[in-house]
Amino acid sequence: MAVNLRGKNFLKLLDFSKDEIRYLIDLSKNFKNMKRAGVPHRYLEGKNIVLLFEKTSTRTRCSFEVAGMDLGLGVTYLDPGSSQMGKKESIADTARVLGRMFDGIEYRGYSQQLVEELARYAKVPVWNGLTDEFHPTQMLADMLTIEEKFGRLEDLNFTYFGDARNNMGNSLMVTCAKMGLNFTACAPKELFPDEGLVNKCRHIAEQNGCKITLTEDVSEGCKGAHVIYTDIWVSMGEPEDVWETRIKLLKPYQVNKHVMESAANDAIFMHCLPSFHDTNTTIGADIANKFGITEMEVTNEVFESECSVVFDEAENRMHTIKAIIYATLC
Ligand code: CP
Ligand code: NVA
Repeated sequence: MAVNLRGKNFLKLLDFSKDEIRYLIDLSKNFKNMKRAGVPHRYLEGKNIVLLFEKTSTRTRCSFEVAGMDLGLGVTYLDPGSSQMGKKESIADTARVLGRMFDGIEYRGYSQQLVEELARYAKVPVWNGLTDEFHPTQMLADMLTIEEKFGRLEDLNFTYFGDARNNMGNSLMVTCAKMGLNFTACAPKELFPDEGLVNKCRHIAEQNGCKITLTEDVSEGCKGAHVIYTDIWVSMGEPEDVWETRIKLLKPYQVNKHVMESAANDAIFMHCLPSFHDTNTTIGADIANKFGITEMEVTNEVFESECSVVFDEAENRMHTIKAIIYATLC
């Protein structure tokens, strides 16, 4: 059946079929080729989008801005704290105002409920640029990057090390289940994903010939893994005082040379970024002072190694976000 995503929201990948995700990955490849070849693609001239950020961002914001400009769109950015939303104006009212002016709305913020509410009232497509629960635009970039490296998605073994209940852990589990990758969350039990979501993903995985595994055992997590993925140990919006316990819990799950050597021979390393792989950031330096560790979720050695594809992944954010905007607004 032909895929048509016009007018659809992009809030979480649970809402999309495998064919629809496949369509968006293929469309991203087309846009990437056009960009590389310098072929103009201002297909959406005359339309306007707004980017609402209640949390900070480098990649997601820049991807929406560049993708929007390449497509010929007008782009308005509202930074954390500069709009009336949430403080003086409800989400429902904000959505109804912005929906009258713009053709599409990107939202990065806290609960998934907020972005779902925005979408309910806006009457134009709403794209989730990250919530506490899900980070769906990141998923397309990750799948595109994996496919570029291995030539396929199905049957690959994907292992996520770290806080497996955060937006990245949840989203990767859903996406792997939909696209036929065997997903393993390698984490301490306290940071395993929500049981309800795991059951939902196991059901989806069964239909797509793959499986979901949760393990505390690092050697089990590494064995046969084609993709080793990690994320920062403390996510945006979490209180500062969780650092100490999180470091204790996750130190054994750091992605280091031993982890990469125990994975498949051709394994790649992935990370959504930003990453604490050295002390060249204020938070990195502060953690080093307080807790005496100079690298966190990944060692600098792995981050800078040949198997690390993190900057391809970052570039692919833009091509895939362009595909999402185009498919929903065209
Ligand atoms: N990966 C990602 O979403 O990066 P930003 O927080 O910089 O947007
Ligand atoms: N889990 C991270 C992802 C950043 C892209 C966070 O929410 O801060």
